[in-house]
Amino acid sequence: KDVEFEKSFNEMISTLPKRKSWGIPEDYFQYQGFWLHPTYLKGVVSAQQQFQAQSTDIMLCNLPKTGTTWLKSLIFAIVTRASFDDSTSPLLSKLPHEVVPFMELYHADFPTYRDHGVPVLATHVPYSSLPRSILDSGCKIVYVCRNPKDSFVSLYHFNTTILTSMNLQPLDLYEAFEMFCEGVSVYGPYWDHVLGYWKASLEHPDKILFLQYEEMKDDNVLYVKKLAEFIGYPFTSDEHRTEVPEKIVKMCSFENLSNLEVNRSEKGGMIQNNMYFRKGKVGDWMNCLTSEMAERLDRITQQKLSGSGLSI
Ligand code: A3P
Repeated sequence: KDVEFEKSFNEMISTLPKRKSWGIPEDYFQYQGFWLHPTYLKGVVSAQQQFQAQSTDIMLCNLPKTGTTWLKSLIFAIVTRASFDDSTSPLLSKLPHEVVPFMELYHADFPTYRDHGVPVLATHVPYSSLPRSILDSGCKIVYVCRNPKDSFVSLYHFNTTILTSMNLQPLDLYEAFEMFCEGVSVYGPYWDHVLGYWKASLEHPDKILFLQYEEMKDDNVLYVKKLAEFIGYPFTSDEHRTEVPEKIVKMCSFENLSNLEVNRSEKGGMIQNNMYFRKGKVGDWMNCLTSEMAERLDRITQQKLSGSGLSI
């Protein structure tokens, strides 16, 4: 079966448009309108063919570098709070990506997580490419988006860090910026990804919660309460009284997570644990983009989102 899949995947991928990536040896392939790295693409196609979602699953969806690590830890802490607190949580000794896997990388292992009462899975797949079973099962989807300027800057730094650690030549900032504006970035175009989930969240507000990194940073306790309520794990009045939401926010804060030994570590192969934690700030683009670049990105964003009711 694997051999058959491999064969048909190779045939399919050879028909796709491709573009030079952001400095890694492999090209990006355009699949169903979005640019993907071939390894992830294989996982996406495989998940589309065989991933079986259940109605009690919780899917965290977003673009890379828009808050995956943060949201994974928050959702994990909310869902497991009957078993663990802020002194016993696996989040204190494991990378958030270890406790909430990615669908396109490890979906075959997902039933094991479900069996342990953690029905949470993450994916960067755009809405229009989600496996059918996710939509049919009616499971909850949480989407988080982040300001495109900060998303680009975070992605650019992440990419540079990885390439440097692999002794590869990082892509120049201006070249990366051009590609991002053109829509050629991992799981991009950025705007199409965001709009896909935004529109779906307007159509199915009971199934898709659309969050923004900046708003969450601004009032994290409020959003953690909303999040818990939405995914079906609302805080009780007792928990409110004993400040459980506040404790979860604190445990999952950038300051706390980024200082844990596990998250400072350089283990993890190509992507080391510490690479997921850089600054965790809103507005860091100011330290990286010229005003021309910022204006250009703002203009594109305005154009693309015009009439959608969304502002980011
Ligand atoms: P910066 O590069 O701007 O610092 P992802 O988790 O999707 O890969 O996104 C990584 C970005 O989220 C990085 O942004 C990282 O520093 C930030 N981040 C990681 N953990 C966070 C947390 N607990 N709270 C807020 N931001 C966090």
